[in-house]
Amino acid sequence: MSATNLSYELHGAGPDVVFLHSFPLDRSMWKGQLVAAGAAGRRAVLIDLTGFGASPLPAGAAPSLDAMAHAVLDTLDAVGAARATLVGLSLGGYVALAVAALAPERVEALVLADTRAAADDPATRAGRMLNLALVRDRGAGALVDKMLPKLLAPDAPEALRAEVRALGAAQSREAVTFALLAMRDRPDRGDVAAALDVPALVLAGSRDEITPPREMRALAASMRRARFEELGGAGHLSSLERPAAFNAALEGFLRAGR
Ligand code: MLT
Repeated sequence: MSATNLSYELHGAGPDVVFLHSFPLDRSMWKGQLVAAGAAGRRAVLIDLTGFGASPLPAGAAPSLDAMAHAVLDTLDAVGAARATLVGLSLGGYVALAVAALAPERVEALVLADTRAAADDPATRAGRMLNLALVRDRGAGALVDKMLPKLLAPDAPEALRAEVRALGAAQSREAVTFALLAMRDRPDRGDVAAALDVPALVLAGSRDEITPPREMRALAASMRRARFEELGGAGHLSSLERPAAFNAALEGFLRAGR
């Protein structure tokens, strides 16, 4: 289904849980979490962020996290979700915090996985510039190949590595470029995270090198009602690498909020 400009799918019934994917993937990365949302009596809303998956990239749109968050808010309107629990992994977490900045009243609870509230540091910004050139010259597949060693733990199964590679390589140059620019220029959202007065679960793969557990633990400590949990053995894409542990944490959190 599609609303406004984003493509989405709905599963189950109950209070809404909105899943926001990581970079450079799409909503299909969350299919393993449907069981947790269903078991907790929730309706799952899986969204392809701007330009990813089946969502178009509006012509001439200026890249920003706010633009991506506005499109998510339009999708919440389209599915009749006045408030929702947002589950965001990495880029999805940046978008969730951007939604919280724009419309805190729409956020019922928050799950932040393998992400950060801080803006890019200078080294990361410099890396974005290299990645922009790589995507321009060689496409999204070349970028995923470069990122893979940090996206997954070293002992991740070959089949998962291939799945992530295929998912990333299928995204358009334009969408990946848009998101790279949006991430590079995103503001610090530490104040937004600290001000949110809703239940939050902060999850980190114990072997995540992109958003390490110590940073995620500090993020949780800076929030008013957050609990931190480390997922043993997972790298950055913790929901894909350790779905059982991720789902147990997610389901417990969702059930507690009912
Ligand atoms: C992601 O997994 O979404 C990316 O690693 C986010 C980023 O590059 O900052």
